[in-house]
Amino acid sequence: MVGNPINYDNRYTSGTPIWGCPKLDFNLKRYINLLSGKRVLDLGIGEGKNSVFLADMGFSVTGVDFSLEALKICKKYCSKIDLVHCDIRNYEIGKDSFDLIMSNFVLHFLHKDDVYAIIKNIKSGLAKNGLVYISVFSINDPSFSVKENSSSFSMIDNNIFYNELNDTYFSFFSKDEVLELFSDFSTVLVSDEYCLDLSHGKPHYHGVIRYIGRKN
Ligand SMILES: C[S@@+](CC[C@H](N)C(=O)[O-])C[C@H]1O[C@@H](n2cnc3c(N)ncnc32)[C@H](O)[C@@H]1O
Repeated sequence: MVGNPINYDNRYTSGTPIWGCPKLDFNLKRYINLLSGKRVLDLGIGEGKNSVFLADMGFSVTGVDFSLEALKICKKYCSKIDLVHCDIRNYEIGKDSFDLIMSNFVLHFLHKDDVYAIIKNIKSGLAKNGLVYISVFSINDPSFSVKENSSSFSMIDNNIFYNELNDTYFSFFSKDEVLELFSDFSTVLVSDEYCLDLSHGKPHYHGVIRYIGRKN
């Protein structure tokens, strides 16, 4: 495990949802029928944007986040979610214990060595036929060149940036890289988008790799 987890507590203090109001993610809606059970793990749940709906639909959701402020907001939206305050790198996922494990817009906040370790845990934590759903920033995200030109970040290797001030890492991914990481899974969806984000703040662009795969 390298570096500190990103500290999001000061971003969650406005009392209003910062990632947009809870609603069922389009891709989850599309593939929810593929789920063979109701146990869901959300790594980096934040305010619970995706999970609140699943909990309301009767899924048994566990959410992990390092931000206590995020967990407070999530609890306010839905008291049924089992919330765990923890660095996802330290969260032990029991073998075969979930039918869906998702981590949306979280893994890029880590060094890739930590991401690989988490993916290994996700694979063992999913039950047979379980689904994984991850979204990460791609190498085409505008923040890539911002970091490249910033004196606060240095690129170390393999599209990984280091911020010495906070001792934090940030990683950007390609579609092929994500497919390779899940080469032993059956792909349900993979996309490499460049899109306008209207969900929070001023309209801005993101480059995003989304992957949904099924454990064989
Ligand atoms: C951009 S938000 C995404 C939240 C949610 N997944 C969503 O899609 O709305 C990233 C979240 O990941 C959490 N996070 C980042 N690194 C973490 C870590 N190492 N351990 C636990 N949570 C982490 C942050 O606290 C934050 O709530």
